[in-house]
Amino acid sequence: MSSLLGKHIILGICGGIAAYKSVSLLRLLVKAGAEVQVVITPAGKEFITPVTLSALSQKPVVSEFFTANTGVWNSHVDLGLWADCMVIAPATASSIGKMAHGIADNMLITTYLSAKSQVFVAPAMDLDMMAHPSTQANIELLRSYGNIIIEPESGELASGLVGKGRMEEPEKIFACLETYFGRKNDLKGKKVLITAGPTYEKIDPVRFIGNYSSGKMGYAIAEECASRGAEVCLVSGPVALTVSNPSIKVINIESAREMLDACEDVFPRADIAIMCAAVADYAPSDVADRKIKREHDEVPVIHLVKNPDIAASLGASKRQGQIIVGFALETDNEFANASEKLRRKNLDMIVLNSLRDKGACFGTDTNKVSVIKSDGSRLDFPMKSKREVAKDIVDSILS
Ligand code: C5P
Repeated sequence: MSSLLGKHIILGICGGIAAYKSVSLLRLLVKAGAEVQVVITPAGKEFITPVTLSALSQKPVVSEFFTANTGVWNSHVDLGLWADCMVIAPATASSIGKMAHGIADNMLITTYLSAKSQVFVAPAMDLDMMAHPSTQANIELLRSYGNIIIEPESGELASGLVGKGRMEEPEKIFACLETYFGRKNDLKGKKVLITAGPTYEKIDPVRFIGNYSSGKMGYAIAEECASRGAEVCLVSGPVALTVSNPSIKVINIESAREMLDACEDVFPRADIAIMCAAVADYAPSDVADRKIKREHDEVPVIHLVKNPDIAASLGASKRQGQIIVGFALETDNEFANASEKLRRKNLDMIVLNSLRDKGACFGTDTNKVSVIKSDGSRLDFPMKSKREVAKDIVDSILS
């Protein structure tokens, strides 16, 4: 049985020659038992007729804001709420630009902006348009908004030129959607504990020792686990982020001590713990109860004590069947150091990111990771959005 059975899918079609392939995609979706609503741009109708599309989807195709002869209003808001996912194939350079910048001048773009569910974008255009910096920047913007880009293939294009820009084959786009819905519930019934963000270690009432962790990776993993059916408890240091999935329970803490207490409370009932937080290694031994004043001659000395290692502490109390995943941020001897941490903390898997990789780690929306498991196996991933990295990490845990 296909994971698409009964799913509500909006198929957005833009005005490109690859629109003929949308017919095959539509047929595959309908055959798999999905309910498909086609939304087409005015230019799209120049390439493929609404009659073909409505016959195959067994629904009138939506293109205009109003149906001309009846005056019926097509609600993009209702459509956006109805959909379990939206796939825009082909997505032209023009529509990608409008989507990236919110220029809602047709029914497809307004529907895209109203969509509450996952959006897949399959670009199709000539190689030079595809390679243009503005197209590339717009695609990156769409990716950063959480859309999944189904990269075009290299091959012969309608212009006769050969290069990257040919829309991915309908079978492959279909497979992306099947995988997406297939894994949607693969964490159902599992309880996942996640730590994220920095810790703040108080010096006095107005000062602390902290670090640059933004919490983005841990929050992306929390969203990914929740969207796949897990019950998530996110123990978070101070960050400027909020969760969008209401089923994620957030426990806000400041210090490593508080993080340890929260984790020890939750861990016994957890199936998986993902330790993403950048925990301060040391904390001031004494916290001044008043703001430390600036003295003219004397420079204050802050004495530090070791913080508890939360991952190692959970690792020591791990019971059969529990999985603990750690993170390692290394600047040198990356693999040896990460593997040593995996062993010392009794982890099952460690995610390594290197500070040497530009665009990875602190504050960025992208990351480049390698995954090392306790059996010694290793998997290297390319630079991806943190949302996609979160998927790869969860897939690795489940495998
Ligand atoms: O030893 P190191 O700080 O490099 O280890 C990183 C891993 O251990 C991360 O998963 C981090 O969340 C976790 N950790 C922890 N408690 C600490 C230090 C690190 O849970 N005090």
